[in-house]
Amino acid sequence: MHSFCYRKNELYCEGFPLSALVTKYGSPLYVYSQATLTDHYNKLDTALASVDHQICFAMKSNSNLAVIRTLGNLGSGFDVVSGGELARTIAAGGDPSKCVFAGVGKTEEEIAFALKQGIYSFNVESEPELQRISRVATRVKKVAPIAVRVNPNVDAGTHAKITTGTYANKFGIQFEQVAGVYARAAKLPNLRLRGLQMHIGSQLTDVKPFRQAVEKVAPMVAELNAKYGFDFFSIGGGIGIVYKDALASGEAKWWKTPEGRKVLTPQRYADTLLPTLRSLGLKVVLEPGRFLSGNAGVLITRVEFIKRTGKKNFVIVDAAMNDLIRPAFYDSFHQIVPLKKRGGALISSDVVGPICESGDYFAKDRPLPKVGEGDHLALLSAGAYGSVMSSNYNSRALTAEVLVNGTKSALVRRRQELEDIWSLESVAPWQ
Ligand code: LLP
Repeated sequence: MHSFCYRKNELYCEGFPLSALVTKYGSPLYVYSQATLTDHYNKLDTALASVDHQICFAMKSNSNLAVIRTLGNLGSGFDVVSGGELARTIAAGGDPSKCVFAGVGKTEEEIAFALKQGIYSFNVESEPELQRISRVATRVKKVAPIAVRVNPNVDAGTHAKITTGTYANKFGIQFEQVAGVYARAAKLPNLRLRGLQMHIGSQLTDVKPFRQAVEKVAPMVAELNAKYGFDFFSIGGGIGIVYKDALASGEAKWWKTPEGRKVLTPQRYADTLLPTLRSLGLKVVLEPGRFLSGNAGVLITRVEFIKRTGKKNFVIVDAAMNDLIRPAFYDSFHQIVPLKKRGGALISSDVVGPICESGDYFAKDRPLPKVGEGDHLALLSAGAYGSVMSSNYNSRALTAEVLVNGTKSALVRRRQELEDIWSLESVAPWQ
């Protein structure tokens, strides 16, 4: 469930008409719902209640301090992929001892920093990285908790750019090599073999690949646990969300897609995986990103012009691919709805931004209600991999972000000033 819905033809986030937020904070604008973040976290937490578990929010999906604070206050740990994300977690009051550190290219500085902060585990992606962690830990006189990331070679069946669990990807260590890697790791100084981790991909809407991967890897976890005394098994992130009918799905307790497929609910996910996981007797770690943040955020944009060509009805808006790159990058679908609902016939439209690239679009040939200059639209399901993937391309200022909590709203990222964009630059001394 999420907290975006129409009331009297006005799109609301919790207690606020989004139009009031645009008036106050300007456009384009990311708006996040604290109630939705909380609801999604609690649903997953409850579904897993029968096993010892730790949810580590994949903050790569949304690393705004206020989002981190919301989830941290609920007990969430964090899946971080850089020293920067770990520093952000700490800045937001998150608990480093509940952080797992993933990524194929951890630098010595990042490893030393994470050791100093006392993170829960490094998710190790290669043997050279294992050796580096051991070396740095020895130098700084710490013991590094580690988990090898196993690549189970299971096809998640998602978009090629977000599938990670097959041997064609750079991630993890091949299933067949994992036992040997642990045997060698056990001989390296200053390492504690704390668990095993996997992650097969993102935006999985079917539970089957999760089940296949867990069932394939669990016997190996049991064997390694018997040898090395593990604390945890991390099954990664990847739970998919509803994009196509995001608005309607928010109001339903359970939901079938228009094609009649059930979406992956936390309960279904837990019911399928827990029997296998429970038998291991280890803490289950999860790294959900999109499931927690995706439908908790929208991007609001203003219509600047309507441009009709012989073939197309272009709706030109003030947000662009630098604000939300998913449609350009992955051909992703984001539902687009007006802040003020109106009747009338739908018009096939292309919603495009002002950037000088033909890839700068949010929708193509999409049936949309008639809109005009000055109207506002909301791009739904933009809470995950939205703002975090934004850039200053075309010297466009980064968008403001607002958190809503019931009838309260707060600016949780100010809009970037134009001077901020080039504040790190200077001309050369001879110029
Ligand atoms: N754990 C690991 C090791 C990951 O690599 C990821 C995502 C997650 C957890 C969280 O996955 P989630 O629960 O959010 O599916 N930018 C792309 C998605 C990239 C995902 C990268 N890894 C998009 O916009 O769809």
